[in-house]
Amino acid sequence: MQLIDGKAISAKVKEEVKNEAAQLTEKGVIPCLAVILVGDDKASQTYVNSKEKACKACGIRSLKYTLEANTDESALIDLIQSLNENDEVDGILVQLPLPKHIDENKILEKISCEKDVDGFHAVNVGRLVSGLDGFVPCTPCGIMRLFKEYGIEVSGKNAVVIGRSNIVGKPMANLLLNANATVTVTHSKTQNLAKITKDADIIVVAIGKPNFLKADMVKNGAVVIDVGINRLENNKLVGDVDFENVANKCSFITPVPGGVGPMTIAMLLKNTIKSAKNRLKRLK
Ligand code: GUN
Repeated sequence: MQLIDGKAISAKVKEEVKNEAAQLTEKGVIPCLAVILVGDDKASQTYVNSKEKACKACGIRSLKYTLEANTDESALIDLIQSLNENDEVDGILVQLPLPKHIDENKILEKISCEKDVDGFHAVNVGRLVSGLDGFVPCTPCGIMRLFKEYGIEVSGKNAVVIGRSNIVGKPMANLLLNANATVTVTHSKTQNLAKITKDADIIVVAIGKPNFLKADMVKNGAVVIDVGINRLENNKLVGDVDFENVANKCSFITPVPGGVGPMTIAMLLKNTIKSAKNRLKRLK
């Protein structure tokens, strides 16, 4: 069994970002990410602060907008539109979840698809499904990078994605399909899940249920990717995989913490650089 070290790979990606940011800055394009946080969700605050810190460490300008929980939809849309029009802003990210009175899908469609570094805009979703170039959601994109770094072959493999969220499950399935895996997407209504997962060469779990994937659901030699971040009552952080029992059956497995988690922010920085490079091309 080999542990996939997301922390080490994310450090490598950040080093690439740092170099690319310096080159762009030299050419007069300072990469810039605008992050919008609505409300006072503690987890979201932590994520946004981490994103801001990572930007600064890599030479990416970071603009942070904190709006009150009772902000109305139109004020948020106005802010997004002003950032869309600001030529010095390369990426716009609205931290999810949004307060209940705001229509998330409506908001995500307001972000210019050329600044949509989260890859959540319907145009970028369409590009991904069609196999066209665009912005790809950060977590699944980071997982593909981990496969590449560890020489994990995807083509021709049976890949099972557990969870069908727009943020992870669906884009993950599409990336695996684009990389020529045979992909099965499972979810809460799936019957006989274990039968499906036992046949998998690669399993990606993203459902937010602590220790959900058990050893008897995994075949020997499988690659297991754990996207879950669950805080137990004793404050311990665990993934969606029963790591202790699953690990010794795997060829590769990601730990929690230190697996997929650090890759998400690293790929957000990469997407911001990609957008800044597009800005430079437009200037030429
Ligand atoms: N909330 C949980 N994950 C994400 C993410 O990747 N992007 C944004 N914007 N919000 C999130």
